[in-house]
Amino acid sequence: MKIAAFVGSNRKDSLNKKLTLFMQERYQEKVEIDILPLEKLPMYNQDNELDPPEIVKEIRTKILESDGLLFATPEYNHSIPAFLKNALDWFSRIEKVMLNKPAMIVGVSAGVLGTAKAQMHLRQILNSGGIGAVTLPGNEVFIGSALDKFNESGTFTHEQTIDFLDQVVENYIGWVNKVK
Ligand SMILES: Cc1cc2nc3c(=O)[nH]c(=O)nc-3n(C[C@H](O)[C@H](O)[C@H](O)COP(=O)(O)O)c2cc1C
Repeated sequence: MKIAAFVGSNRKDSLNKKLTLFMQERYQEKVEIDILPLEKLPMYNQDNELDPPEIVKEIRTKILESDGLLFATPEYNHSIPAFLKNALDWFSRIEKVMLNKPAMIVGVSAGVLGTAKAQMHLRQILNSGGIGAVTLPGNEVFIGSALDKFNESGTFTHEQTIDFLDQVVENYIGWVNKVK
């Protein structure tokens, strides 16, 4: 099963990137998680959408060929970062490559709410006509107070959360298998 992953942070030490890398390794027997190179995307401009940069076409193909989508989003000012919104805008136009793709959302923050507000916005955005990705009701992963949940080398180590994540990923894989 191929999953295209959108990591919503462009910073080097991103916790959301670290979580995605952890998931990539932990679930490698079940899913192939391909992290999309969103940092190569220019700022979306409607003037260019009919003749987009090559990287837009490359990422479109990766999304089209995937069985599902994973979003790992930080929360910026109670919403998703512009970095992630920019990618969603590119892939919502001309070729609607996310239409009907089963999506799973996770998010990590140092604060206690674990990106809950950003994820609510993200679900709403995924539900827009141009995107049309679908999410399972529930199956939510909010990882708050996260600075204690990674070790010094950046590996995710919080056993209770890992057990929970295993269950959510299992639900997601079962669902993708039904709909693909
Ligand atoms: C511009 C900005 C806005 C932020 N707004 C919020 C916020 O609304 N809620 C929150 O819990 N954390 C907020 N944070 C803290 C981020 O959750 C934290 O920096 C997190 O580690 C970012 O994800 P990353 O590690 O994957 O880059 C904000 C950080 C930045 C840089």
